[in-house]
Amino acid sequence: MAGLGIWIAFISQCFLSVSGLLQRLEHPVKADGSLSLVVIGDWGRKGTYNQSEVATQMGRVADKLDIDFVISTGDNFYDEGLAGIDDPAFESSFSKIYIAKSLQKQWYNVLGNHDYRGDVEAQLNPVLQKIDPRWICQRSFIVDTEIAEFFFVDTTPFVDKYFLKPKDHKYDWRGVLPRERYLSKLLKGLEMALKDSTANWRIVVGHHPVRSIGHHGDTQELIRKLLPIIEANNVDMYINGHDHCLEHISSTNSQIQFLTSGGGSKAWKGDIDKDGRDGIKFYYDGQGFMSLELEQANAKVIYYDIFGQVLHVVNLSKGLRSTFGVQKSGSSPRSSVANLGPITVWTSISSLTFEPQKTKCSTQAHKYDDDSRTL
Ligand SMILES: *[C@@H]1O[C@H](CO)[C@@H](O)[C@H](O)[C@H]1NC(C)=O
Ligand SMILES: *[C@@H]1O[C@H](CO)[C@@H](O)[C@H](O)[C@H]1NC(C)=O
Ligand SMILES: [Zn+2]
Repeated sequence: MAGLGIWIAFISQCFLSVSGLLQRLEHPVKADGSLSLVVIGDWGRKGTYNQSEVATQMGRVADKLDIDFVISTGDNFYDEGLAGIDDPAFESSFSKIYIAKSLQKQWYNVLGNHDYRGDVEAQLNPVLQKIDPRWICQRSFIVDTEIAEFFFVDTTPFVDKYFLKPKDHKYDWRGVLPRERYLSKLLKGLEMALKDSTANWRIVVGHHPVRSIGHHGDTQELIRKLLPIIEANNVDMYINGHDHCLEHISSTNSQIQFLTSGGGSKAWKGDIDKDGRDGIKFYYDGQGFMSLELEQANAKVIYYDIFGQVLHVVNLSKGLRSTFGVQKSGSSPRSSVANLGPITVWTSISSLTFEPQKTKCSTQAHKYDDDSRTL
């Protein structure tokens, strides 16, 4: 019997350490229970490549929507992340660019492959909040709002080629090695947190796309390891950057919407994979960003270009199969509606028609030099 007690203690300790892997941050919703935010990716270039223009329009949209926070899908600082906590790029690419009052909200950032090329721990260091209190960057974590849970996943360590063929790049793998252990703990932590989630909307955010028809295309490692977990746990959206474009793909075998917002600065005109078009709803190879508005049963995603023009709108709606007051064991009762029914997707494209065979925006050939291939 004593043995059993020890065994149970051991198991519960494992449980704690695994579920504790993903730190949980709480973020309040608006008084009416809704939430709105903007999403940007692949941006930190000291204002160049239209970064400042995108920032200006983001500020206008953020003001109009009265956003609650900003999500960055990674590749926060080009080309090689931050050199240290006192790298002036933190201010010249972030604080001094996103200056609109409406953007003075929390920024939740994940790391991209470029961030891993610098001093990766600098971006994770809370000391940066002394320079700019908006900044929150962790490897993998959860932002819990009443209406939605956001699961931020560190995707760079999934990608084999950064380990096997790093070329001339040096990656800062402190905190990641041994890699297999890091990935399996991350996936276990994510799976447990998803199973435990009672939020209406479950949104996973990573740097690398699961599905994309852009330059990099699908990330096979994520299709193999991450996708089965998010498919099995009623995730509504997977949001990413890495491909420098704006894109919307509907999963053909689940409710997941794959949303790419990687247009924060340099874009890759004309870079599009003409095959792999299953479920593709929208692709824009210029710069821009995305907004997300969430209500209990409805969600709206809008993509904008550098003039703030609406390019594409996605309405998501859940059926009314609802249970009230679902309570998570060990947490306070929730009054939100949970376990909403199947999702319905409507999309409308305002000013850009997606025409699969002739991508109108291919005005500037992308140069396939060695460096760009690893972007
Ligand atoms: C800035 O955006 C405009 C409009 O999309 C585009 O024509 C131009 O090439 C962009 N400039 C750079 C440097 O990317
Ligand atoms: C999306 O929802 C809005 C209301 O929030 C509505 O005005 C718009 O027509 C909808 N668009 C589509 C394509 O269903
Ligand atoms: Zn990237």
